[in-house]
Amino acid sequence: KKAKMIVEKDFKVSEVDKRIYGSFVEHLGRCVYGGIYEPGHPEADENGFRKDVAQLVRELNVPLVRYPGGNFVSGYNWEDGVGPKENRPRRLELAWRTIETNEIGTNEFADWAKLVGAEVNMAVNLGTRGVDAARNLVEYCNHPSGTYYSDLRISHGYKEPHKIKTWCLGNEMDGPWQIGAKTATEYGRLANEAAKVMKLVDPSIELVACGSSSRTMPTFADWEATVLDHTYHNVEYISLHQYYGNRSNDIANYLASSLEMDDFIKSVISIADYIKSKKRSKKTINLSFDEWNVWYHSNDADRKIEPWSIAPPQLEDIYNFEDALLVGSMLITLLKNADRVKIACMAQLVNVIAPIMTENGGPAWKQTIFYPFMHTSTFGRGVVLNPIVSSPKYDSKDFTDVPVLDTTAVYNEENEELTIFAVNRDLEDTLLLEADIRNFDGYRVLEHIVLENDDLKQVNTATNQAVAPHTGGDAKNDNGHVTASLPKLSWNVIRLK
Ligand code: AHR
Repeated sequence: KKAKMIVEKDFKVSEVDKRIYGSFVEHLGRCVYGGIYEPGHPEADENGFRKDVAQLVRELNVPLVRYPGGNFVSGYNWEDGVGPKENRPRRLELAWRTIETNEIGTNEFADWAKLVGAEVNMAVNLGTRGVDAARNLVEYCNHPSGTYYSDLRISHGYKEPHKIKTWCLGNEMDGPWQIGAKTATEYGRLANEAAKVMKLVDPSIELVACGSSSRTMPTFADWEATVLDHTYHNVEYISLHQYYGNRSNDIANYLASSLEMDDFIKSVISIADYIKSKKRSKKTINLSFDEWNVWYHSNDADRKIEPWSIAPPQLEDIYNFEDALLVGSMLITLLKNADRVKIACMAQLVNVIAPIMTENGGPAWKQTIFYPFMHTSTFGRGVVLNPIVSSPKYDSKDFTDVPVLDTTAVYNEENEELTIFAVNRDLEDTLLLEADIRNFDGYRVLEHIVLENDDLKQVNTATNQAVAPHTGGDAKNDNGHVTASLPKLSWNVIRLK
């Protein structure tokens, strides 16, 4: 089988906002405790942060981390997590039904983010709390000094403000499971008032309003329209959340899920632009896809976890090779929409539906999905191009005309590098890719990275990286005509310079 693409320097989608390679750390399961933080571990630094985990996070090149939730934030009192640790209360954590010790809070997390070279994307509680707690937290984090909350921060040992730029106005407030869930009107009003007041404290911040918890929510679309109607003037982004799973073991259909993700993005863009028209506004609302991933492997195990323990192994999906292919396609989808998707957070970062796993007291290791994320985050910086693609297509249970070749290209002007990301969704055949890279004169193939495996269900473990990329791909460039064999069911990164 054959597919063709024309890559033209001047056909630009948009500059990539590096924040689309964001991630997410929630006080959930072993993400914080036993994940990023494990005092007493041989790899722990003087603050209890695991150096091995921090190193893997740096390898992933994560520029932004959403915190502290997720569902957790809707019952969280941020004041519990600041000040002397011995005074911090242990609380019933109602979202995940565990005990929260509050050993880690806002300041420690800001320290950890600095350690891994990331910015914090802070969420405020609009479930059990509201305008007052939100404005106080902005003052605590961002105001320099001379006021109650900024001086409180200083008294806690943090003279310099954290200068947190991006803030989420609650989490999944449309979901019946959410602590303090709201109707779109209730949430829209509250989010707008919180936004207004948070910006009175610090006008430089950017705000994300909650969109639907997934495209399948019954209130989807009306929710976005109502929320944006209320918040349009005071927010910059609307959020999207979506998880997929291969529950019916139908690989052709599973790998096509990224088409639905694309559709979801396009729908939210049209809703945002409808409200823009309705308001005759010049301002454009962009998208924050602040939870996305595969999530289904751990569902049964989670139902058996007893409540009220500390950091139990919740949502510990062990990802296989086919999940890495879909994650690759989801990343390509985010890139294709880089003109409107400015923030995206893979959910989550460590242990909880995560690319990085740890054993308590033991090693940290890379799941299969680590690799496509690392490749795009490392090489997908610059300008996303809009290649003209012709590919064979297939139909699956829920999708028609699924291109066998899923691809995009990113041009890094600074390094003068062109990178083609490609998934071959074909179940049986190698796909011969012919890419016409016309005005990239004199470029040569630096490397062709391939992630492939004969067993779709192959997983990695602490001791066996069975799914890992190799650089033995055969891409070559002959006078602007790149050819490459993309093995059946494979993730490919073709780097040219
Ligand atoms: O990421 C896991 C959970 O998924 C988050 O807490 C919640 O926002 C979503 O439902």
